[in-house]
Amino acid sequence: MAHDDYIPMHARVAEITDETPTEKTFTLEFVEDELPFRPGQFCTISVLGAGEAPFCIASSPARSDAIQVTVRRYPQGTVTSALHELAVGDYVGVRGPMGNGFPLEEFTGRDILVVAGGIGLPAVRASILYLLEHRSAYRNVTLLYGARTPADRVYNDDLAQWEQSPEIVCRQTVDMKDEADDWDGHVGLITTLFEPLDMDGPQTTAIIVGPAVMYPFVVAECRQKGITDENMYFSLEAQMKCGVGKCGHCAMKDKYVCLDGPVFTYAQMREMQEY
Ligand SMILES: Cc1cc2nc3c(=O)[nH]c(=O)nc-3n(C[C@H](O)[C@H](O)[C@H](O)COP(=O)(O)OP(=O)(O)OC[C@H]3O[C@@H](n4cnc5c(N)ncnc54)[C@H](O)[C@@H]3O)c2cc1C
Ligand code: FES
Repeated sequence: MAHDDYIPMHARVAEITDETPTEKTFTLEFVEDELPFRPGQFCTISVLGAGEAPFCIASSPARSDAIQVTVRRYPQGTVTSALHELAVGDYVGVRGPMGNGFPLEEFTGRDILVVAGGIGLPAVRASILYLLEHRSAYRNVTLLYGARTPADRVYNDDLAQWEQSPEIVCRQTVDMKDEADDWDGHVGLITTLFEPLDMDGPQTTAIIVGPAVMYPFVVAECRQKGITDENMYFSLEAQMKCGVGKCGHCAMKDKYVCLDGPVFTYAQMREMQEY
């Protein structure tokens, strides 16, 4: 059913997965509507009496009758706390899709490098699922994922599956681990995963989402591998506040991240001089 952009669609909480002590993934099934979307787009979710907040759509775009979102709870956060109190069978409002998303269909025939830091993995999960569902259209697909500690990692089932899959090269790292952690994987910043990679840089498109502090270091590694600024795609959602072009918080030169993005190439970001 067609819907008005300003009217939330009713969705039922069909499943809740505890990812970490502060992050949960919600599967939201639409009661009447459908929500076709592109990987990298986001939606807003409203909880009655608490308000509305934006979240990346983390599920495969192959399914439009339901979406998944992964929500980090902030102790003082009104909407994220209310979402974390929900149970299966409760209802929320969903508006969207919003934002431009990643133009994955333009990347066909190329190697794809996905770089996700921390809560950036939910923002690229839809892209990874899309790439795997359209696997023959792309050359090598590589995921580099960095979390702060082993306990901060989300989508453990997906990661275990991707690590075993011949369809994708999946490399993970954590910044640090405790003695109590049984993590026997890589320890070090996400940039340390680049060095052993054998890449065809000019043939590679990179999709990069994570904390802004990570971006200059990842750009340097990508350039070192021969990936051009035009082929590095970032999502700048962290720059946004209202998300609808009203507050000016996300203005960068002549662009509004919320209206023109949030996905930009690094070449575009360089032109938005204030970045
Ligand atoms: C386009 C877009 C996509 C997003 N996607 C996701 C996603 O997929 N998953 C996800 O978990 N979040 C995502 N976020 C962030 C999410 O929207 C915020 O965490 C949420 O709006 C907080 O709402 P709240 O009502 O709980 O907090 P508020 O009541 O608005 O904030 C209360 C306090 O909580 C703290 N706080 C809230 N949010 C943050 C934050 N992001 N960083 C640090 N401190 C914070 C601050 O101290 C703040 O003062 C996204 C944001 C944008 C703009
Ligand atoms: S987030 Fe408010 S204008 Fe873009």
